Amino acid sequence: MDLPNPVFDQAALDAGARLFRRPCTFVRGVLELAQMPEPNMSEITFAGRSNVGKSSLINALTGHGGLARTSDTPGRTQEINFFDLEGRLMLTDLPGYGYAQAPKGTVDTWNEFIRRYLKGRPNLRRALVLIDSRHGLKENDLAIMKLMDDSAVNYQIIMTKADKVKPGPLEATRDAIAAELAKHVAGHPDVLVTSSFDGSGLDAVRAALSELARPE
Ligand code: GTP
Ligand code: MG
Repeated sequence: MDLPNPVFDQAALDAGARLFRRPCTFVRGVLELAQMPEPNMSEITFAGRSNVGKSSLINALTGHGGLARTSDTPGRTQEINFFDLEGRLMLTDLPGYGYAQAPKGTVDTWNEFIRRYLKGRPNLRRALVLIDSRHGLKENDLAIMKLMDDSAVNYQIIMTKADKVKPGPLEATRDAIAAELAKHVAGHPDVLVTSSFDGSGLDAVRAALSELARPE
């Protein structure tokens, strides 16, 4: 599928493809920040509402179907899971926010956990904030963006599940997100559009991330 993504030069696309061909290994899942791996390489985190496709995107980018656990049941990922792209980049899969059925106490605990991770992780280079192409930005997405603005966490919006939306509405949602981003200080201006199902747009994400990885 041809998606409305920014153009990357061939060198960046090649570097992204090479980076994500490397073996990627699960390091550990943590429920307490004290258990996190040493912050000794650049880290990218995958954030977003429950069920938006965070775990699926990590699997699709790395080409490992079963690396991060995915599920039809929202709220599947409850720990912060760390994946090591062979020493060049650490990827982390966050528990989703905004899962309506979760008990309130659980929601508060998750939110606080994510908040402390985002604010306190010194090697965090960028947060990818995933947005479902069918739904666009919701209240809790705006809240996370505000938190990242306030804590000076660089972030970039990645639209997911583009295979579910026709080209016209897809571009309209992308433009609406870009217009909102212009009001946020820490947000990257380029919105990337992806489908983990058919692989579209993944080359753009790989290229963008390769610029943040440890050099070859
Ligand atoms: P939590 O861990 O619960 O926060 O969810 P998550 O954001 O990790 O979502 P996950 O990757 O588990 O995917 C949720 C559902 O969306 C699953 O049923 C996936 O198969 C589906 N899904 C993920 N990516 C895509 C996509 O690109 N296209 C379509 N059509 N479905 C997708
Ligand atoms: Mg998940």
